[in-house]
Amino acid sequence: MFRINHNYTLLPGSYLFSEIARRVADFQAAHPEAEIIKMGIGDVTRPLCPAVVDALHQAVEEEAAAETFCGYGPEQGYPELRTLIARTDYRERGIDIDADEIFVSDGAKSDTGNITDILAADSKIAVTDPVYPVYVDTNVMGGRGGMLNADGRWSRITYLPCTEENGFCPALPATRPDVVYLCYPNNPTGTVLSREELTKWVDYCRREGVLLLFDAAYEAFVRTPGVPRSIYEIEGARETAIEFRSFSKTAGFTGIRLGYTVVPKELTGVDACGNKVGLHGLWKRRQTTKFNGASFLTQRAGEALYSPEGQQQVKEGIDFYLSNAATIREGLDAIGLRHVGGSDSPYIWVNSPEGMTSWEFFNLLLEKYHIVCTPGSGFGKAGEGYVRLTAFNSAERVAEAIKRLKSHSL
Ligand code: MLT
Repeated sequence: MFRINHNYTLLPGSYLFSEIARRVADFQAAHPEAEIIKMGIGDVTRPLCPAVVDALHQAVEEEAAAETFCGYGPEQGYPELRTLIARTDYRERGIDIDADEIFVSDGAKSDTGNITDILAADSKIAVTDPVYPVYVDTNVMGGRGGMLNADGRWSRITYLPCTEENGFCPALPATRPDVVYLCYPNNPTGTVLSREELTKWVDYCRREGVLLLFDAAYEAFVRTPGVPRSIYEIEGARETAIEFRSFSKTAGFTGIRLGYTVVPKELTGVDACGNKVGLHGLWKRRQTTKFNGASFLTQRAGEALYSPEGQQQVKEGIDFYLSNAATIREGLDAIGLRHVGGSDSPYIWVNSPEGMTSWEFFNLLLEKYHIVCTPGSGFGKAGEGYVRLTAFNSAERVAEAIKRLKSHSL
């Protein structure tokens, strides 16, 4: 009989958000009258902005005519889109990134998982705790996890706790990993790292020869002046970091699928013989072999985001979600629940009421208030005792959720 990838059998039964969806569906089936407000998975609710809708219509027309029809596109993305990204997201902000260093893809979730293809099979991984589960699960699939301990942590993975005690700032690891994942603005805590903190990380990674995988999927939510939106705002990051970006939360593309990854030309690792190898070439080889590029239609939609109207509409969408986040924060203050995040992020990280675990609070919110959150312990051991709320909803639904929370004591 053929054998399967044994590492998959080590993983817990289901992916966090699939498990939550299952529990919510069970509850809804048992209580069909309940009007559930979803503040769990970070999925956008606003429709695509007009600039994108127009571009999509036009792209369909292009695909419908023999003279303009496009089949396979360049695996790295159309040059027009890559040029717009490099210019608008980087160069106009004083960051040195070339269009050729941009790899357009179907989203940051795929890329943060797929990047493990170019890592050594025995690389040592460090992640923050709590953490976006994709970084951990994909490394377990690749055999880098070791064994799952009773506390839910993997024996070969280094965890960097982010707690109230350290102000949700991860400390540098006590022993050197090969690769560290940082996500800022953070999923799930919604916190950000200052320029000084990020400089500490870039300096450490350069000094120790560590690859920094920087997930900037939520950068467009940063509003606090001085908080970096890209790791390449930090001197020396080009030599040590790969950055992942997404249009999902920025422009409502969770269903459309579009993102990109930046791999600077200077970034090198070593092969089994100790020879230096450029990661740009490796990632290009990986993508050209396993990926045929994001769709023509999606990339046309992406280009539209960089027009003056597109930029304005994107900003309005993010301002809208940030205003929801402010409503949630005020509501939590009023009912006396401690929280962080939600100022430069769509996520608010909320302390469960005294003595309650994350899943207990999840159940209470679902059963009594018909509100779905994400239990913090699903993001790691240090997430126990918290839940995550998202601001992705209509203003009315957010106001209704807060009203429900205020109307009955917890
Ligand atoms: C989340 O809720 O953490 C996100 O929706 C997950 C994702 O972007 O894949």
